[in-house]
Amino acid sequence: MWNYYSRRASKWESELLPPLAGHCQNVPEFFLCCFYATFIHMQSEEIRQKFLDFFEKRGHAVIPSAPLVPENDPSVLFNTAGMQPLVPYLLGVPHPKGKRIVDVQKCVRTQDIDEVGDATHDTFFEMLGNWSLGDYFKEDAIKWSFELLTSKEGFGLDPKRLYITCFEGDSNAPKDTVSADIWEKVGIPKNRIYFMGAKSNWWSVGENGPCGSDTEMFYDTTEIGLGDLSIEEFKQADKEQKVVEIWNNVFMEYEKKDGKIIGKLNNQNVDTGAGLERLTLVIQKWKSIFDTDLFTDTIEKINEFATDDNERSKRIVADHVRTSVFLIGDNVTPSNTDQGYVLRRLLRRAVMHADKLGMKPSSLFWIAETVIEKYKNVYPVLEQKKETIKTEIEKEEQKFRKTLKDGIKQFEKISSHGISGKDAFILFSTYGFPFEITKELALEKNISVDDKEFDEEFKKHQDLSRVGAEKKFKGGLGGTDEKTIQYHTATHLLHQALRTVLGSHVSQKGSNITPERLRFDFIHSQKMTDEEKKKVEEIVNEKIGQALHVNVVTLKKEEAEKTGALHFFGEKYPDEVTVYYIGDTIDQAFSKEFCGGPHVKNTSELGHFKISKEEAVSQGVRRIKATLE
Ligand code: SER
Repeated sequence: MWNYYSRRASKWESELLPPLAGHCQNVPEFFLCCFYATFIHMQSEEIRQKFLDFFEKRGHAVIPSAPLVPENDPSVLFNTAGMQPLVPYLLGVPHPKGKRIVDVQKCVRTQDIDEVGDATHDTFFEMLGNWSLGDYFKEDAIKWSFELLTSKEGFGLDPKRLYITCFEGDSNAPKDTVSADIWEKVGIPKNRIYFMGAKSNWWSVGENGPCGSDTEMFYDTTEIGLGDLSIEEFKQADKEQKVVEIWNNVFMEYEKKDGKIIGKLNNQNVDTGAGLERLTLVIQKWKSIFDTDLFTDTIEKINEFATDDNERSKRIVADHVRTSVFLIGDNVTPSNTDQGYVLRRLLRRAVMHADKLGMKPSSLFWIAETVIEKYKNVYPVLEQKKETIKTEIEKEEQKFRKTLKDGIKQFEKISSHGISGKDAFILFSTYGFPFEITKELALEKNISVDDKEFDEEFKKHQDLSRVGAEKKFKGGLGGTDEKTIQYHTATHLLHQALRTVLGSHVSQKGSNITPERLRFDFIHSQKMTDEEKKKVEEIVNEKIGQALHVNVVTLKKEEAEKTGALHFFGEKYPDEVTVYYIGDTIDQAFSKEFCGGPHVKNTSELGHFKISKEEAVSQGVRRIKATLE
């Protein structure tokens, strides 16, 4: 404990607090350090709460974190950003809590796993976020960020240490001078506001979904302060982690489809994300997130067990155990697929680094307990599942240890002639070595491993099971064009029936027709209830029973839009479009859509409509499969 606090006191803080002088040489000084660390620094619990309170006072509803594994989105393994669980609402579905939301979202990102151990990277983090769903926009968002960061009632940060980036503009969206002007108005000098390209100042997740330009806040963590910086100097300071990004305000007003920006959303939204770990780092004036109170007890515990002083390994153990605790708390267990494999990799890598530190076997069990202690008041589920979490970690360590010795032997044997991707795959599949471990061992010996070949082997292995699954589900290829046309018309009836039952936020995201069935993807945030599915079926069958005419007209695009016919928002249509409507007149038609056809002439040709499946495709997008019998 003593050593720890004395080592952590940096010159930067010693200048701000001369009595501490950066070292605790005697007992009174040691107590002063402890007092300083505990009471003068705002603790992470208070930072979290302050953020929520600040925005609650400004009309935001506080919502709890969604679980780490997305509930309705099989396309991603984890929530990797605060916005992910809120995607449907950013796309226009009304949120039950209103238009202003504030939350602390648990996130897991493992892309930067190799960077863990430096000052700012971790695989689990909490994202503090305030959200405007078609309500306030740039002015309030920026004003509030600045106020919370710098005011005495807020976090009391020094405005002179803040640097701001804004979007420089491209063919999709203009230069964001609006945000820059607001920053100037609140007091940031022009020469600390930098314009940057889409790579750093445009936010989106994946190929589809809401997106927009952002403005990012950086904080200077150097001892004497960097002062004014040119844009090049600022970029360099960022690279060297002398300035740390602490908050990002995204102005979500565009939509991306298949990787392309297709136009504006109906709403202008705000999505902000402030990583709690980094914010705590700058508020508590440490140099690294591992020095903040979020990690101190854990590192302290590791110190009790470790006989070696490798800083990076300590940080890796602390980080990976923390992430594992949260994953198991959210019902993930170690396995060789999906989320379970990520958890396995983290735990096994933690075991390797614990060994490196000379920690005795089964220490991770105790490290996990310290993590739970730290977080249990904020996340009570960790306390409830404490035994399961600790046991799963211990079980996985034991399992890995069973093959660890043999694996290392095998590694030594093959590494004398370099490690091919195939070798790495055998180490993975037979000895349970996650790829990172093989890579790390290889790095120590100065030999390289073929990433690409490993990936190919891994894929081959996955494909074997996938081919089986595909065979099972592949439909026959019989059928006629006539059936396809019937399904096409049924899709229009379904689209409108969904809007009638679920609301006008429903809109088409995709459609696929085979002679056996229709498949329809649409925006909706929740699983449909049995009752809702039944209602939709009833409406479609009622329209089929009414033997409605299916009509087509060609109209000027503007006129067609005025009829209220459904079409893809943002899609580029020609000046003249065809509209299919089902019913006698276009004004009173049950369904009308921009569409190239073909369709049946009368709904009586369709047969009986039945939903065979309703499931999630991605966050906020549902899929229906249905048949005509
Ligand atoms: N989506 C943005 C981010 O994760 C802001 O919340 O940085």
